[in-house]
Amino acid sequence: MISVHNFPSPRICCIGAGYVGGPTMAMIAKQCPDIPVHVVDVNQHRIDQWNSSDLPIYEPGLQDVVEEARGRNLTFSTDVEGAIKSSNIIFISVNTPTKTFGIGAGRAANLEFIEKCARKIAECSTGHKVVVEKSTLPVRTAEAVKRILMSSANNATFDVLSNPEFLAEGTAIADLLNPDRVLIGGESEAAVEQLASVYGRWIPRERILTTNLWSSELSKLTANAFLAQRVSSINAISALCEATGADVDEVARAIGTDSRIGPKFLKASVGFGGSCFQKDILNLVYLCEHFGLNEVAKYWEQVVTMNDYQKKRFSARIVRTMFHTVSDKKIAIWGFAFKKDTNDTRESAAIYICRDLLEERARLTIYDPQVPESQIRAELTAVFQDTVGGLSEHHQRLIENNVLVSRDPYEAAKDSHAIAVLTEWDEFKRLDMTRVFHAMHRPAFLFDGRNILDAMHLASIGFEVHSIGRPSYRAGG
Ligand code: UDX
Ligand code: ADP
Repeated sequence: MISVHNFPSPRICCIGAGYVGGPTMAMIAKQCPDIPVHVVDVNQHRIDQWNSSDLPIYEPGLQDVVEEARGRNLTFSTDVEGAIKSSNIIFISVNTPTKTFGIGAGRAANLEFIEKCARKIAECSTGHKVVVEKSTLPVRTAEAVKRILMSSANNATFDVLSNPEFLAEGTAIADLLNPDRVLIGGESEAAVEQLASVYGRWIPRERILTTNLWSSELSKLTANAFLAQRVSSINAISALCEATGADVDEVARAIGTDSRIGPKFLKASVGFGGSCFQKDILNLVYLCEHFGLNEVAKYWEQVVTMNDYQKKRFSARIVRTMFHTVSDKKIAIWGFAFKKDTNDTRESAAIYICRDLLEERARLTIYDPQVPESQIRAELTAVFQDTVGGLSEHHQRLIENNVLVSRDPYEAAKDSHAIAVLTEWDEFKRLDMTRVFHAMHRPAFLFDGRNILDAMHLASIGFEVHSIGRPSYRAGG
């Protein structure tokens, strides 16, 4: 039982106005109209977008939440110092990408941005502050954050808490409104209770779990590793289904009804993406290796290996099915985001499928309802840069000459030899597929990387349909 304390009224700031910081703070501000919530970021453009009607992230329901609180108790600015000074609870919600250089490259988290935040907080703070790690971090990062904070020149004092965010993009508002749990790790009971009392305004107390700091940090990595593992497990079985004639969706349904397994996160796909799963598993792997737990490291690494295999398998299947060549063939890519209902493309499977098809000299026309052309081109440029350490002229030409971005799915599919569905946007289920079919070359191939379309119906129109872990269908059998 947590004791009752007399806290100063909370004044919140959040450093980092991204996919996590923005929606989370908007929800706190909405639910606690009396608490000032100040979100700051070094990126002026991002802040301008948060202050406009064109938010930087697409998330169903977010606009309403922001509009309700903005101007009342929710503010967005680049005044990092001012926000730190005027608040007593400071969330750190900056990005922690996988390191691309030096020790731990490709595995460890890059903590540069976290450290910069901690130094800034140490520099500007006076009095007592509660510092909350919101970003996903390797275990024991709080230790480093604490040491940096202790170097404060102004004799400020700090409590450090870990409060990882479990929201999933695309359902962030529902997840924030009604989370399965809120996790708060920390040593100071008073600080833990101070933060718990903010969430307690709308979340039942029994769903607010408190742990020690390290358990909280590790729980976030573990939750993502378990979720990703389920996707890789069903994707592994999808390969076997394709070889044997079983249907992976039927298998998922059959095993998901076992209450010990449960039905969620068993949707076979072209591969998981997003900013968290791969990064967090690699982080876990790095930690295990650091502690000499090589078997444990290998075990988790296999989840990522399987995901890479799934993506490769899909692009290879497209090439193989289309008579072993896609060179100069037009392929429509439907969906570029890493999942539906988001404009986020980080680690999206679509990036890797497009890369492989471009290497095979296909001509791609990409349609996504939320992802802007500039972002698609930036992702493709980055993926080719990754592999050769700089963009070769050849790859630059491929991106310039072989990639079109369309604002309309019908136009994208017109005159194409194949369509590849890479994101499960609902609108793809409502398209007039007879119209699509008549505008395509024959055979009209459709590769459903999300198993969202009715393959038998499409075959009756005339398509040749290849899905994940399911038998293929074509007109006449
Ligand atoms: C994930 C966690 O779910 C969330 O708790 C954490 O805070 C951040 O990481 P997110 O990456 O936003 O959230 O989305 P999620 O719904 O988990 O999907 C991740 C990827 O797995 C997507 O590419 C999705 O398409 C894929 N996926 C998910 C599948 O392929 N099959 C499934 O059954 C579920
Ligand atoms: P996430 O998905 O974890 O929210 P994002 O990349 O969407 O990650 O957002 C992180 C944000 O943090 C970015 O907008 C970035 O500009 C911001 N940021 C990074 N470092 C700092 C810093 N030192 N001070 C303020 N903002 C920062």
